[in-house]
Amino acid sequence: MIEFRGVWKSFGAEPVLSGVDLTVREGETLALLGPSGTGKSVLLKHAIRLLTPDRGDILVDGVSIPSATGGQIKAVRRRVGYVFQNAALFDSLTVFGNLALALDDEDGHRPLSSLRPEAAELLRRVNLDHAVLNLYPGELSGGMRKRVGIARAIASRPRYVLYDEPTTGLDPVNADIIDALIVELARDLGVTSIVVTHDLESAFQVGDRVALLTEGTIRACAAPEEILASEDPVVQRFMHRRFGTAESTPPA
Ligand SMILES: Nc1ncnc2c1ncn2[C@@H]1O[C@H](COP(=O)(O)OP(=O)(O)OP(=O)(O)O)[C@@H](O)[C@H]1O
Ligand SMILES: [Mg+2]
Repeated sequence: MIEFRGVWKSFGAEPVLSGVDLTVREGETLALLGPSGTGKSVLLKHAIRLLTPDRGDILVDGVSIPSATGGQIKAVRRRVGYVFQNAALFDSLTVFGNLALALDDEDGHRPLSSLRPEAAELLRRVNLDHAVLNLYPGELSGGMRKRVGIARAIASRPRYVLYDEPTTGLDPVNADIIDALIVELARDLGVTSIVVTHDLESAFQVGDRVALLTEGTIRACAAPEEILASEDPVVQRFMHRRFGTAESTPPA
């Protein structure tokens, strides 16, 4: 279980997060929606201590992330796969090199050749041919890069996967492929996930529950049909303004 408890975070005068409470239940996929610049990526980064809160707490399996030791954080990061908004692959390494870094044991002692079959298996999971292992990130399409980012995130067999905008910038066909993959990984690997997106269709396709982050707090968090039926004017405005324009969402 991942719990955000009263999380506050500012970078300047105005807080980005002002008391976020959110619990991600075991086994569920939670879609996190919100306008651009509202703090979705900032919130997600707190789960693996890429950022620390000014106030509040984040618990992963009961471990308080802000006060965890270096060893505990290392262990948490192996349990939490993170798909970065921009894929964040190393451009100077091949796809195999990128996956090998994530597959290797803590000490980096395993010979590279022994990792190749596992890397090929990861690519198979995300519907990419093993020949892609030899390509550099610069040689991949946007959709392929996203899939390699997902393959890397699941390399350590995580219990949790945090996806930051996995479909943003993709055409609808590739976006659907990624959404289907998220659903499949949740089912086959039993992972608990947060999917940050500003694509409503995607949120409703993958989310067991949908949460809306606006103005620093979670405005609503409920099953998709409840969110759609919400009488909260802020929720209504977000859902109705965005529906119909989902395909013209600009890349982040
Ligand atoms: N490391 C940082 N230092 C200073 N400001 C930051 C930092 N990270 C994020 N911000 C600011 O925090 C705010 C929220 O950013 P964040 O990236 O979380 O938005 P987002 O909801 O993910 O937006 P998008 O949908 O465009 O990805 C923005 O105003 C951003 O400029
Ligand atoms: Mg973001």
